[in-house]
Amino acid sequence: MSPAKKLNLAVLASGNGTNLQSIIDAAKDKTLDAQVVVVISDNPDAHALLRAKDNGIDAVVIERKNFKTKNEYENEIIKVLKEHKTELVCLAGYMRIVGKELLSAFPDRVINIHPALLPSFPGKDAQKQALDYGVKIAGCTVHFVDEKTDHGPIILQAAIEVKENDTVDSLKARILKEEHRIYPEAIALIAKGKIKIDGRIKRKD
Ligand code: GRF
Repeated sequence: MSPAKKLNLAVLASGNGTNLQSIIDAAKDKTLDAQVVVVISDNPDAHALLRAKDNGIDAVVIERKNFKTKNEYENEIIKVLKEHKTELVCLAGYMRIVGKELLSAFPDRVINIHPALLPSFPGKDAQKQALDYGVKIAGCTVHFVDEKTDHGPIILQAAIEVKENDTVDSLKARILKEEHRIYPEAIALIAKGKIKIDGRIKRKD
């Protein structure tokens, strides 16, 4: 019997790429039935690009400044995604709002990780927002992307306790650890066909 076909993932990342790394590692140790086929960055200095190259994955830079409109920029991304036969687009520290163009090319096929328990603290500096607000429980969320920021149907969340002496950095580090656990887990659920969007999310047995 031939092995089941792996889900083709593209990762869009603007920075360090530790979430990208957790996905690559999970795919390698076979806890994830998927493969990263391309990494795309809007930032030529993103460390994520080096992580891709180190793992033999195509790394492509597409800079917004080289395109007149957001549509043209996203069409170039779509072209690269399609060339690589992408089936699921994973945003991992991608510092741009995804537009209609990309979302309609991959309907219900774009996911994101956000370092807060949505719907609390969407947008930038989520960990600082949580700390400033004084919450006692913080965490992270993997969700489908829709046209509103950090809003689409939730796939998985993980919670951590906020400690008395936490700083933004210490909180970030503990949340990031959970991100690295639940992002590959969420992708694995999608790869196994266990996620159905019905308004928000339904899990299938
Ligand atoms: C993560 O905290 C992620 O939740 C947020 O941006 C950060 C990216 O970190 N969207 P990395 O580049 O994956 O290390």
